[in-house]
Amino acid sequence: RRPDPCVVVIFGASGDLTKRKLLPALYHLEQSGFLPEDFAVLGVARRDLSATFADDMKDGIVKGGGVETNDPNLDPFMERVQYFAMNFDDEGGYAGLKKKLEDMDAQFNTKGNRLFYLSVAPEYFSDIVGFLGKHGMNKPGAGEKHWVRTVIEKPFGHDLESARALSDEVNKVFDESQIFRIDHYLGKETVQNILVFRFANGIFEPVWNRNYIDHVEITAAESIGIEGRGPFYEQAGALRDVVQNHVMEVLSFIAMEAPSGFDADAVRTEKVKVWRSIKPIHPADTVRGQYGPGLVDGKAVVGYRQEDRVHPRSQTETYAALRVEIDNWRWAGVPIYIRAGKRMAKRVTEITIQFKQPPLMLFKDGEGKGGEGIKPNVISMRIQPDEGIALRFAAKVPGPNMSMSSVNMNFSYADAFGASSANGYERLLLDAMLGDGTLFAHRDGVEATWALMTPILQAWAKDPVKDFPNYAAGTWGPVMADAMLKADGRKWRKL
Ligand code: BG6
Repeated sequence: RRPDPCVVVIFGASGDLTKRKLLPALYHLEQSGFLPEDFAVLGVARRDLSATFADDMKDGIVKGGGVETNDPNLDPFMERVQYFAMNFDDEGGYAGLKKKLEDMDAQFNTKGNRLFYLSVAPEYFSDIVGFLGKHGMNKPGAGEKHWVRTVIEKPFGHDLESARALSDEVNKVFDESQIFRIDHYLGKETVQNILVFRFANGIFEPVWNRNYIDHVEITAAESIGIEGRGPFYEQAGALRDVVQNHVMEVLSFIAMEAPSGFDADAVRTEKVKVWRSIKPIHPADTVRGQYGPGLVDGKAVVGYRQEDRVHPRSQTETYAALRVEIDNWRWAGVPIYIRAGKRMAKRVTEITIQFKQPPLMLFKDGEGKGGEGIKPNVISMRIQPDEGIALRFAAKVPGPNMSMSSVNMNFSYADAFGASSANGYERLLLDAMLGDGTLFAHRDGVEATWALMTPILQAWAKDPVKDFPNYAAGTWGPVMADAMLKADGRKWRKL
């Protein structure tokens, strides 16, 4: 099914995301025949970029989308991409925008359907949404095939209260069914595959519970630092930047019950049940970290406090670890350890499901040559890079002794399906154009995850850390995070 004819209107088109992700994604979608024949893009930003916009976007498609500079399909695609300059907070521009969109409808036969993509700083959300409403651009025109939708990029607030206020504001103008809150992790193939792995196979679900699982780990480690985003990151920190959204989304896929169907309402119902079943997270079950100077991939890098536009005594955490428990019939008593950080030893996002040991060990650890001892079974799901899934189990080392070694059964996406160029945004943009909200965050979910994070943030704010920086760039985070698992008789898995 192809989406209806439409114009994708990108607010904040001069920003990085438009060039690096959105335009390449739209180009790939178009080339793969997923977009409607009647389709156009309007970039909207403050500065007058009309002279350079097309070239800049082309450059983005080439670099961000792995497309040849002389690709003959590029110019025809760019003919559908236009630019409009206006100040988001000045009502004066919106009548002009409306007229521009009507002209584009006439030119491209896009039938009045609009996807407004808000790729702007959150302080502009309410102006843009409010003025779109005031100028009647929030409602579809006459006829059945007409629709207006809006895509919003995170952050969806910075705590529970502001998230509610933001949703209230947007809901005044757009019905919840018109709002698509993007979490690009839901666009990742490997994240979507968690549901296929669990619910399209008969052998995993029976053991996917407290009777068989010892604990779960979710690691979202990045080797990059804050990439020049000092002012943004100072206000955010690791918990707000990635845990409240990306990690919580991943956790909900790992932990949820089978939905009644694969549609937005059914999936969202099950996700929200998971978040609401999480026990309040005690500050003692959290660890904060901040990186100091160190070596990443053999290169010396500065500490967080030396980054551009970061306070020299900043209290912002660049690493967070949590111990979480889901109080429901499937998970009660199974700890879920989460860690996310910047400037860590390597870039890896992985979920580890560690199973309990057999009730009786018939074979001794490390007997005979080559025996490494008996490690518990593990299913590890590698979200990125080297996407894949591995199952660790014990095998007999050949020879006269009953000696054991751990071995892995591996599935690699690249080997099985070849390399994929999809960047997550392709799927999500297409779904938004189709009106399918299954892979988007919804108001109730956003509030449920903020309800979990807000007390931690408040407790942290009251209790400044004295030993920041407490991990060197290029390492696995503060020792306190190891201590947290050690207290439970466990260790982070080596990744
Ligand atoms: C973004 C955060 O949402 O996710 C960034 O703002 C982070 O700080 C990024 O680097 C991680 O996404 P990915 O796809 O690179 O894992």
